[in-house]
Amino acid sequence: MPSQGTSFIVAIDGPAASGKGTLARGLAAKFGFAHLDTGKLYRATALAVLQSNGDPRDAATAAAAAGRLDPVLLAEPRLLDEAVAGAASVVAAIPQVRAALLDYQRNFAAHPPASASGAVLDGRDIGTAVCPDADVKLFVTASTETRAERRFQELRQRGAPAIYRDVLQDMKERDARDTQRQAAPLAAATDAVIIDTTTLDADQAFERASALIARALGSRSR
Ligand code: CDP
Repeated sequence: MPSQGTSFIVAIDGPAASGKGTLARGLAAKFGFAHLDTGKLYRATALAVLQSNGDPRDAATAAAAAGRLDPVLLAEPRLLDEAVAGAASVVAAIPQVRAALLDYQRNFAAHPPASASGAVLDGRDIGTAVCPDADVKLFVTASTETRAERRFQELRQRGAPAIYRDVLQDMKERDARDTQRQAAPLAAATDAVIIDTTTLDADQAFERASALIARALGSRSR
């Protein structure tokens, strides 16, 4: 594992549409840290498999795609498609895929780009597996219905056809795959602070997380 160096690491985990991405981007901007949306790595792996007409369930195909991931794919608009999200959670259950993406994530955390003094990584297993020694660990969650409603609104705003019942069903299936898999399942680290956004709005979640980071930064510099 590459050394963590002096980089200040914020690990944010949580299920789909919990608000962790918005929170991660905001915190990175506020503290001048680099941000990595690790879900994009799994989505890009899935997209590469789908584009070559491969089967996302096939371990050898998916691991090969993860091993030669083209960073250009990380900016591909199709990563946002629900079909890609579904396939991402299928490739993400394959241990060889997770292993192939581990070094990239740890390296980003330890040596953030543009000499940033810290990094915010959001995903499913950052506090538990990728960066178990992170300075701050947050687990952002919300009820399944709240998250499905958010994803439904997001899809409609993008002009994508969506039916709430189907979005809710897809989310339940993806949650089940993410929490029940053997390899690094979605889980809160024992030392993570839980932020439930069912009743907190984005600003309140941001204030709470900012205060935790400011305190941890303060105690690190003492
Ligand atoms: O944006 P959303 O929360 O819907 O999904 P995402 O963060 O882009 O992640 C897509 C899928 O990648 C998830 O359903 C997980 O199966 C997988 N993933 C993972 O296994 N580990 C991570 N650190 C990040 C994502």
